[in-house]
Amino acid sequence: MPEIIPNLHPVFVHFTVALFSIATALFVVLFFAPKIHPGLLPERLREQLRTVARWNLWIGAAITLVTVAAGFFAFNSVAHDAPSHAAMKLHRNWALTTLPLYLAAALWSMYGAYARKTLNRFFIGLMLITQLLLLSTAWHGGELVYRYGLGVISLPQPEGDGHAHDGGHGHGDARETGHAPDMSMEDMNMETDTTPEDHPDHAH
Ligand code: HEM
Repeated sequence: MPEIIPNLHPVFVHFTVALFSIATALFVVLFFAPKIHPGLLPERLREQLRTVARWNLWIGAAITLVTVAAGFFAFNSVAHDAPSHAAMKLHRNWALTTLPLYLAAALWSMYGAYARKTLNRFFIGLMLITQLLLLSTAWHGGELVYRYGLGVISLPQPEGDGHAHDGGHGHGDARETGHAPDMSMEDMNMETDTTPEDHPDHAH
């Protein structure tokens, strides 16, 4: 079994975001297209898009339960310091606000399919609000990795002589900069000086 760095959360987040975003886009098209022009979407195409939108939403909701569980695992295991802990809590809070709306939209859509209801503006409103919350959640998640470096084993160090691209700009030499791509997460957690234990001022 290959080691997944830093954990499984980043594997699932993309499904959560992509499946919901496709569902939102398709439901919006299905809702507005007939209002723009009744013949814009032929009935057979509408039927197909409705099915695709629903399944994206339903599968996305199921996977999001795994995403959130993996998020809690990441929250409790990834090495962090006080500022990144605050950023993690903010990301978690956005996620826990998004989750119930995501699930509600999926259940509403299931009921709509069962009872053969047509799309209404309240459902489209819920999808759009949830989409915005989801994007904010994902953006705050990206901040954790790309701004605070959570789960990152080593960072490139551009200073100094190193290899040059054809255009001429050099980057630091990986052998001399301490860049260590073959470290494991365990090594990193041992070497970091910002483990949770070092920061008794914050608690989960
Ligand atoms: C709707 C649910 C969620 C979404 C869409 C989401 C999205 C993301 C994204 C996009 C990243 C950056 C991953 C990368 O760039 O590789 C991330 C990282 C992270 N998220 Fe979430 N997240 C969700 C729920 C949660 C929850 C509930 C927690 C904690 C309780 C959490 C904790 C973390 C942590 C600790 C990281 C840092 C990387 C890691 O250790 O995996 N997330 N998240």
